[in-house]
Amino acid sequence: MSSDPYRGGILKEDINKVVLNYTSSISHDNEIKQYVVDITKAHVVILYEKNLIKLKEAKSILSVLSELGDFELNYSTEDVHANLEALLISKVGPELAGNVNLAKSRNDQVSTAIRMALREKIVKTMNQLLSLKEAMLSKSDELVDAIMPGYTHLQHAQPTTLAHYLLAHHDRIDRDFERLFELYKRVNMSPMGSGALATSSFQIDRNEEALLLGFNGVLENSIDAVSSRDFAVEALFNFSLIMTDLSSIAEEFVLWCTSEFNFVQLPDEFVSTSSIMPQKRNPIVAEMIRAKTSSTYGNLFSVMSIVKALPLGYNLDLQEITPHIWSSYEIVSSSLFVVREMLLKAKFNTSKMYKEANDGVSTATELSNLLVKYGVPFRVSHKIVGSFLRSYANELSPQQFCNYLKQNLNLSISLQEIENCFNVKKVVESYNLVGGPASEEVKRAIKKRKEKLVYQSKEVNNLLDSLLSYKKALDKRVHELLNLSEQLNLHL
Ligand code: ARG
Repeated sequence: MSSDPYRGGILKEDINKVVLNYTSSISHDNEIKQYVVDITKAHVVILYEKNLIKLKEAKSILSVLSELGDFELNYSTEDVHANLEALLISKVGPELAGNVNLAKSRNDQVSTAIRMALREKIVKTMNQLLSLKEAMLSKSDELVDAIMPGYTHLQHAQPTTLAHYLLAHHDRIDRDFERLFELYKRVNMSPMGSGALATSSFQIDRNEEALLLGFNGVLENSIDAVSSRDFAVEALFNFSLIMTDLSSIAEEFVLWCTSEFNFVQLPDEFVSTSSIMPQKRNPIVAEMIRAKTSSTYGNLFSVMSIVKALPLGYNLDLQEITPHIWSSYEIVSSSLFVVREMLLKAKFNTSKMYKEANDGVSTATELSNLLVKYGVPFRVSHKIVGSFLRSYANELSPQQFCNYLKQNLNLSISLQEIENCFNVKKVVESYNLVGGPASEEVKRAIKKRKEKLVYQSKEVNNLLDSLLSYKKALDKRVHELLNLSEQLNLHL
């Protein structure tokens, strides 16, 4: 007999093996297998409560489901849903196994299972983002006074500190966290009870089923619920953006560990050497982060291209979306791990950073600002300082600038005042507006972010608790039902 529970009606013949291989989702259904079992359990509970199946029937299905454990998927079935039904048929017979499908279909079930698997991955990613944020904040704490050149166009621009710089990366990661928090709410809605597309004439309770599965509510419109994968697009976009932010960090590691920059030494365990050139310390982890980012964009674009031309209703094209979600998640999760480790173990060469910041160029803005304080219009002072830098590129010094002003503009400004503008430490301390690099301001910013981190950890713990508690509550319901006596049931 065919292992395909859906054949034997309109289709007499078995499916062609090549067609089965080509169209089956079994090779990536492992990701959703356990959720399909949970959904089936919840559905059987509801079917029993709504008098759509008898207690005896519910019990025999639930006891099989409860003892399934980590069952092997059979590659000669279309997907995990057909696989589970075939398995149930072998244990409880075709009639009963078939009735599990009352008021449900693979279409609502698969979307529900993907959402259940994804919501866990979202929470895990949020947790990893928090660990990275924590690492960034503790590094920032140590580096409040580590002066470095700030760049625009990768040219020395204005001095800043490494702590200020790390906080910039931190704040991007913080927004990634917030985006996932928002996304979670949209993912955590249940399609169950939408059936194939039009709900069902069997009177189940969609809300109750959603609650049993730990969802926040139902995804109301049943056609939308089975047809839409915007939650997947959004997840893939968020994963891509996390990778974009990590790639930007990775790119800086690659640049900063060159002998030209020499701002950082990566730990031995994060670099490789060359088979021929003994001096090499290749930043392979950072390079892989940059490249793997592109794969997440590929996944996002594949999925957007799949959904853009689909009519409403379930189309098998949707099946092709799912593995892209898991692929991007794997990339994000492994990358978040290595970036955090690399950051914590990296040795920053703060004296080289200071030396570069102290080159007399990155404080040029302060020289023009000084002239403004003496009544020179800014656009004029900008040109004066520009001409000075052009003429004395190799011998920049406060004394030189003092002489230059005297000779060319007949302007007398004390050497002390000019020296203050060349002093990177003083310049950095003067950048004390909200969000600037001055040490007090950076300390305030770190403190505020640490407080936020505590709050965000609570949010993540609440989500983790809710994921654990639905599972416990569902198992409890199943257990209670399995222990209900037939007679007692008759009296109720
Ligand atoms: N394997 C399918 C998927 O992953 C499940 C839904 C199939 N539905 C159908 N009508 N063929 O999307």
